[in-house]
Amino acid sequence: MPLFPNPLEAAAFRLSVVPPMLADYFGVLGFHALIAGARLGIFDALAAHPQTAAHLSATLDLDPRGTAALMRALAGLGYVRERRGRYRLTRPSRAWLVTGAPACLTEGLEFWARNAATYWTDLATTVRDGKPAVPFYTATEADPELSRSFQAWTAALARHQAPAAAAAIPVPRGAERVLDLGGGHAVYSLTLLARHPGLSATVLDLPQALASAEAHPRITLRAGSFLDDDLGAGYDVVLMFNILHGLTDAEAALLLTRVCTALRPGGVVVIGDQFRGPAPGRASRTLMDLLDLNYLIAISGRIRAFSEVRELLVAAGFSRPRHRRPLRSPAAELAIATKRA
Ligand SMILES: C[S@@+](CC[C@H](N)C(=O)[O-])C[C@H]1O[C@@H](n2cnc3c(N)ncnc32)[C@H](O)[C@@H]1O
Repeated sequence: MPLFPNPLEAAAFRLSVVPPMLADYFGVLGFHALIAGARLGIFDALAAHPQTAAHLSATLDLDPRGTAALMRALAGLGYVRERRGRYRLTRPSRAWLVTGAPACLTEGLEFWARNAATYWTDLATTVRDGKPAVPFYTATEADPELSRSFQAWTAALARHQAPAAAAAIPVPRGAERVLDLGGGHAVYSLTLLARHPGLSATVLDLPQALASAEAHPRITLRAGSFLDDDLGAGYDVVLMFNILHGLTDAEAALLLTRVCTALRPGGVVVIGDQFRGPAPGRASRTLMDLLDLNYLIAISGRIRAFSEVRELLVAAGFSRPRHRRPLRSPAAELAIATKRA
């Protein structure tokens, strides 16, 4: 959550009476307050009923002074609200931070804490060198806990985004076979298969990533590299969710050409990613720019404009590239194209 300055405080920041970068210095501390709240079970406890800090510290076995200080900070940041000494969840916290809530994103906290404490501390070096010291997927394959937390985060996002994405995928009539490249946790395949009982899917990903995949009788997990290994042939649909931003232009061109070969005539490729473009507001644009920087830090990657993706698709032999925004969110857009029948 951001700081919520009142008009006087906002003016003090704007006029530089107060150093505005303090919001960023202390933003890191706010992030850790959020992580602590989730790790200590405070959001889950408050989901049951409003409680005082003293009651929370007693039931969760926490230090009373520490709990009181944390609860004041969480209230200031907008995660909880205090009334007559009792804390309750704010509406966003109830939606996004309670274990088991349909849109719960607390899984992301462990991954982002790790990411911020490792990759992001090397940002200056990455910007100087133009590439990360250790590519992210080399790190995840060597570190099961990093891989687990990353897959848990992307799966949580996917559970939120996949239903609308799956509804927007034009599965050809009589289709049977799906290839999910870099499908990891397999949530996109699971969601598509739930809509189409005649489909089965192969999820191709690196070995450690597949350790997080949910088993399903119509899903085959295949360990390998989509850059180096044979993709197979005769697919009706190929899914490429959140992998294009991690590829160089040369890798993307090569992979899309191989995907076109692997599809049967009339089959479709579906790229799910963020596309650079006019953002609805400054906050959305800044989040996209930070995400773009994150892809640079992690994998020398970047966010492309849809026009660039369209060119790549056409060059690879696809027809009718089209841009879809089933969630109306810059965080989850689709590029769909068809292999000529
Ligand atoms: C950002 S995640 C996306 C996961 C999932 N498709 C989603 O959208 O939530 C990228 C995935 O690509 C996988 N990946 C990266 N390089 C790969 C490669 N060369 N071959 C196969 N999978 C790869 C990673 O292991 C990871 O699971």
